[in-house]
Amino acid sequence: MFRVPTRVLINPGCRFQIPEILASIGAKRCLLLTDQGVRSTEWFAGVQSLCGPHDLDDSIQPNPKHRNVDRLGAQALTGKYDAVIGVGGGSVLDAAKAVAMLATNEGPIASFEGRNQFPNAALPFLAVPTTCGTGSEVTWVSVISVPEQNRKISVKGDGMFPAFAIVDAELIHTLPSGLIAATGMDAFTHAIEAVVGKPANPVSDALAFEAMSLLLQHLRLACEPEGPIESKEKVMLASTVAGMAFGNADVGAVHCLSESIGGLLDLPHGLLNTLLLKPVLAYQESYIDEPLGRVSQSLGIPRESFFDYLEAFIHSLPLPKWSSLNISPSDFELLAANSEMNGSNPSNRMEMRSSDYLSILQSL
Ligand SMILES: [Fe+2]
Repeated sequence: MFRVPTRVLINPGCRFQIPEILASIGAKRCLLLTDQGVRSTEWFAGVQSLCGPHDLDDSIQPNPKHRNVDRLGAQALTGKYDAVIGVGGGSVLDAAKAVAMLATNEGPIASFEGRNQFPNAALPFLAVPTTCGTGSEVTWVSVISVPEQNRKISVKGDGMFPAFAIVDAELIHTLPSGLIAATGMDAFTHAIEAVVGKPANPVSDALAFEAMSLLLQHLRLACEPEGPIESKEKVMLASTVAGMAFGNADVGAVHCLSESIGGLLDLPHGLLNTLLLKPVLAYQESYIDEPLGRVSQSLGIPRESFFDYLEAFIHSLPLPKWSSLNISPSDFELLAANSEMNGSNPSNRMEMRSSDYLSILQSL
């Protein structure tokens, strides 16, 4: 089955349609959620002015924490709001999506871990991405950190799809190159994991191939300080398209490991995926040879040189190296065990046990 119930607006300047969207759903007061980085941009006040009467909260942190989501959820549960608007990267969108659900379902968020564990559909949620990787604006999933348990949880359900995705590439014009690179590669990881995983289907494949093709053509250019606006727009488009792909297939071992590391050590999700992508896929190579062949063919890259191509492409992006993350080998066992527990682990074609994740970590 393929499903994207979210209404998706994708064009530069589409944020100016926010007032008519709010009017169309009868929203009189909104909860507007963001983070301090986004709030400090020169354009944020302009977006805020489009949101009508609202309460603003900029407390969302990277790898959003369950306590913060629970606090905002309790605030939303009062019935004060008709909609939730999230303006930010994946952390803000995942947190805001969870808050919209907690506005109609009494928390805590951790009690809804898993799939369709909450009874009531969320408040209408408007997702306004400001990076080019998450795809959260078109998926039903929210990934939240539980630091006390050193892990991340996934909360997903039919009632959690955003009502509207407002994908306005003008909002990434001033995004730093390193963030474009890392979030763009998160999108690439979504696309390729959607194809090589067990739940892949022909529609998600078509979307994933298109997203990967756009990213290989445009991501490097989009990262250049004076890079063409058109390339940034194509990367943003690819991010949403890849979101539709993995939202209807799944992610796999790369995300299982990156979410495990992000949950324990609070490191950036996109960067982790970028640095883990080739080693994890190469580890699984004999199990994913057939879908990798189709990926190579669709991108016009010879299958035998696909990994070399991917490695060179990643190397050309303005990103730090694995060694700079300083991940301690004493954490490897816990990271590997948490990776196996990830809800997406069963989506791998190769059965991945903690010993497999441990081998990958030790090889890096
Ligand atoms: Fe991701």
